[in-house]
Amino acid sequence: MKKLLEMISEEMQAAFEEAGYGETEAGGQLGRVTLSNRPDLCEYQCNGAMAGAKKFRKAPAVIAGEVAERLRGSKVFSQVEAVMPGFLNLKLSETFLRDYLQDMRQAEKFGLDKPAKPQKIIIDYGGANVAKPLHVGHLRSAVIGESIKRICRYAGHEVIGDAHLGDWGLQMGLVIMGIKERQPDLVYFDESYEGEYPVEAPFTISELEEIYPASSLKSKEDPAYKAQAMEATYKLQNGVRGYRALWQHMMNVSVTDLKKVYSSLNVEFDLWKGESDVRDLIPEMVQYMKDGGYAYISEGALVVDVKEETDTKEVPPCMILKSDGASLYNTSDLATILERTRLYHPDQIIYLTDKRQDLYFDQIFRCARKTKLVEPGTKLKWIGFGTVNGSDGKPFKTRDGGVMRLETLIQETRDEMLRKIKEGREMSEQEAKEVADMVAISALLYGDLSNQASKDYIFDMDRFTSFEGDTGPYILYTIVRIKSILTKYAEQGGSPDDREGLELLSASSLAEKQLMMQLAGFNAMMESASEETAPHKVCAFIYDLANAFNRFYHETKILAEEDEARKRSLIALLLLTREVLETCIQVLGFEAPEKM
Ligand code: ARG
Repeated sequence: MKKLLEMISEEMQAAFEEAGYGETEAGGQLGRVTLSNRPDLCEYQCNGAMAGAKKFRKAPAVIAGEVAERLRGSKVFSQVEAVMPGFLNLKLSETFLRDYLQDMRQAEKFGLDKPAKPQKIIIDYGGANVAKPLHVGHLRSAVIGESIKRICRYAGHEVIGDAHLGDWGLQMGLVIMGIKERQPDLVYFDESYEGEYPVEAPFTISELEEIYPASSLKSKEDPAYKAQAMEATYKLQNGVRGYRALWQHMMNVSVTDLKKVYSSLNVEFDLWKGESDVRDLIPEMVQYMKDGGYAYISEGALVVDVKEETDTKEVPPCMILKSDGASLYNTSDLATILERTRLYHPDQIIYLTDKRQDLYFDQIFRCARKTKLVEPGTKLKWIGFGTVNGSDGKPFKTRDGGVMRLETLIQETRDEMLRKIKEGREMSEQEAKEVADMVAISALLYGDLSNQASKDYIFDMDRFTSFEGDTGPYILYTIVRIKSILTKYAEQGGSPDDREGLELLSASSLAEKQLMMQLAGFNAMMESASEETAPHKVCAFIYDLANAFNRFYHETKILAEEDEARKRSLIALLLLTREVLETCIQVLGFEAPEKM
């Protein structure tokens, strides 16, 4: 379905042409219409007469006047006004707008067209590392990645989300050493042992989470210990049985826990692959890079040059193997590109990490292109996100200055939400808790997603959980308000899913018309959110939509409306508003309760 602005622009363009003002030399269309930047004067505007003045050697006001003349009686505009020095101020026809909403309601996905060429997209997000707890820094990768996945899927692309676990590096060796320190007699460390290993893991998740930081700290203070951890990593990577068995336990225990935390944020991965999954591809890839003349030895390490003539900054070579032959973060990322190419032939791979990894991804992408690991038609896209800060503007910490665990942050948000929900509401403890959990997730997700990904933001518990302002709870509150009106309508004997009434809509007040115009922008918004992988656009849209709805609600008699036909039309408008809002929060990753 055509976008509203496109349709309006076409009408305007036709008028320019009829009046004898066709295309400009540059091929530009004079009839382009934009949203008004003076909403007090008009809804839309067209500045084409100003742009055409030079080419047609006429005063802009004359051109504008002639174009306005042509549009008299237009079905699209209820008002076309040529004003000095040559602007066209426009108002949309109410019937045209109503018909547009009618079409939108009947169309699939509210009029969002399928992409001309649907893509196969892999999204690599989450960034979790096995045996290390998720902390607040992991929130953004998970939340933004999940939303981009849902937006692109809704837009009609095939999207595969992959957790790409950090499960193969030095951290694994560190954990193995930490376990060995605590329980040196475990059978896993007896390299002559040939029997079956126990099914039960020799640690719990909380023990595992204590082991890593302690071991990591020790390795920084004690070089001999670090060397042992490196050796353990090497043994693991080279298939020493006991180490592999221990590693498998870590994977099981850790992944179970990760799934729990991610699912509490409504984050779901299609693939739970990790760095370790490409271990067998590495030797082949290394050989290929050597044979192709791409990789060479520099100071003992195997590297590929990736600098380019146009570089304005230093881009160091991409390291493939360390001097001791060990693979690194780079190696598994490159091998993963190879694997993804072979298995999926994706049109695009999108990565979400902290923005400090920009140089790293620059190197990786260049290396993958240069060595032709990736097909020429595959786009590699990295989205670097900003930091979550505390109110002091510094990276978010716990009260005592430690790293904030993601689970703790989620729990604190739930507690705060529960406190707010219980204030002045009559709800059973159980119900209040369920509602609070749902609303808390909206607070966290919306608080994050409403910011442009690349920007840092301040985590402000009080603001994020507020029912007013640009927040998740405010959006949910608006949806719940609509639901409750529809329920009451049903109690009065009305049919709350009667969409037919839309054809009777009159846009009789300004607030009603503004709500309708906002709804009509859905397809354009969703298309650009998908093309630009920008969840914040969805947030901005629903914030405006919720505001438009609430203004309308405060000014309009709905259930008390006596004219039955009009009442039906208002109910249909409410229904459409609710459906559009619900579609939008679904792609952001959260849901609305029935009551709150
Ligand atoms: N595990 C990594 C980290 O903690 C993030 C992984 C990001 N994805 C990737 N393909 N490199 O920094």
